Amino acid sequence: MDFSKLFSYFLLFAPLLPLLLPMSTAENSNLFREYIGAQDKGVKFTDVPINPNVQFHFILAFAIDYTTSTPYSPTNGQFNVFWDTVNLTPSAVASIKQSHSNVKVAVSLAGYSVAGSTTPATFLPTSIDSWVDNAVSSLTSIIRQYHLDGIDIDYENFDSSADADTFAECIGRLITTLKNNGVIQFASIAPYVEPLRTYYKALWAKYSNVIDYVNFQFYGYPNSTTVSQFLGYYDTASSDYEGGKVLTSLMSDGTSGLTAENGFFDACKTLQDQGRLFGIFIWSADSSKAEGFPYEEEAQALLAG
Ligand SMILES: *[C@@H]1O[C@H](CO)[C@@H](O)[C@H](O)[C@H]1NC(C)=O
Repeated sequence: MDFSKLFSYFLLFAPLLPLLLPMSTAENSNLFREYIGAQDKGVKFTDVPINPNVQFHFILAFAIDYTTSTPYSPTNGQFNVFWDTVNLTPSAVASIKQSHSNVKVAVSLAGYSVAGSTTPATFLPTSIDSWVDNAVSSLTSIIRQYHLDGIDIDYENFDSSADADTFAECIGRLITTLKNNGVIQFASIAPYVEPLRTYYKALWAKYSNVIDYVNFQFYGYPNSTTVSQFLGYYDTASSDYEGGKVLTSLMSDGTSGLTAENGFFDACKTLQDQGRLFGIFIWSADSSKAEGFPYEEEAQALLAG
């Protein structure tokens, strides 16, 4: 090996090295996302402060593949709307997007329970093909009716009838088809803490190429979480969803996870200083309404720099 030649190459390219440094901090993003509409608080899009210097996603909670009247029963991928349809209408979506060019609106699938009842929103496909067919057609019409831009995957209940590979196939094919058909521009997943990791990791292993963001539900950890524990959880999630854009998350009623009082924004700032704050999301606009949205303001100010 000709070391003098290598060395002269090094000298040639050395002046370019400083140009690479800013790239290591280029992963910060100004994406702010907020779930809205699940808790019957009458919250409107226009109630929520929107900073013009962030990318803002409202995420409607939820569309669920269950019947809309009791007894709530599974519908094998036939999705129905369960969010507050009095305030969060198709025209309200069109209007918030028209008045704020930085706003996009997505729909989240499933959530914990059906309409806040004791019925869990369980993932119960009859078969992969039939679930995907039903999901593609029902969601395409909801997404077009409401002028939506993306979907979020938030199944939190599974049973032995559908394993992790079935979940991965159903969701992966759904997202791929909606993207290929031009129905959505982006998709995210919202993994909850254990024991759901297996399901979301199986999905990530096969379909990470169609998943744009990971809304990891860090508020699934207890409200005693410290900043350093939170940063550790962030590292774990980043390695579970390797190469993914993992967002930090806050539960705005302060009942669980790392709270604002205990340093949530300090943790976000640390990640931002390290160049790996891909965005922040809050659960939920409904809970925040009573307090006047201080955390939404603070999160967006941080992201806007
Ligand atoms: C913190 O979590 C515990 C256990 O879930 C709960 O009992 C308590 O009310 C929570 N504290 C706050 C301030 O919400």
